[in-house]
Amino acid sequence: MVYLTRIEHFNAAHKLFNPAWSREKNEEIFGKCANENWHGHNYELYVTIKGEPDPETGFLLDAKKLSKLINSFVLDKLDHLNLNEDVDFMKGVMCSTENLAVAIWNQLTKHLPATVQLHCIKLYETSRIFVEYYG
Ligand code: NI
Repeated sequence: MVYLTRIEHFNAAHKLFNPAWSREKNEEIFGKCANENWHGHNYELYVTIKGEPDPETGFLLDAKKLSKLINSFVLDKLDHLNLNEDVDFMKGVMCSTENLAVAIWNQLTKHLPATVQLHCIKLYETSRIFVEYYG
């Protein structure tokens, strides 16, 4: 089994806010991320796939093709947008990095060729905070 990782980047705005709670409780739990007027993050997205290299190309999947798939089904729907308001696959869920990683997995896994499997979505919210999802 071989693993291949493609790194992509996007910017997006969000806020973490539970409408069932008071403003005070939201601020207590989510801190600055509860700011009503939004804030942004520079996300780094690591997409790792696994499988066996093709005997003719030696590739698991052409890394450019993987990038194209990530762009079409994930980045085009997120980049420079508001995660709470603009992104169909984040509707109705809290816009945490955890939930975003799971949603990216669900977006991508159905569009990969049958010869490879998604192994991990690793999503950095800041250089010191990241989430990993293995399905
Ligand atoms: Ni935030």
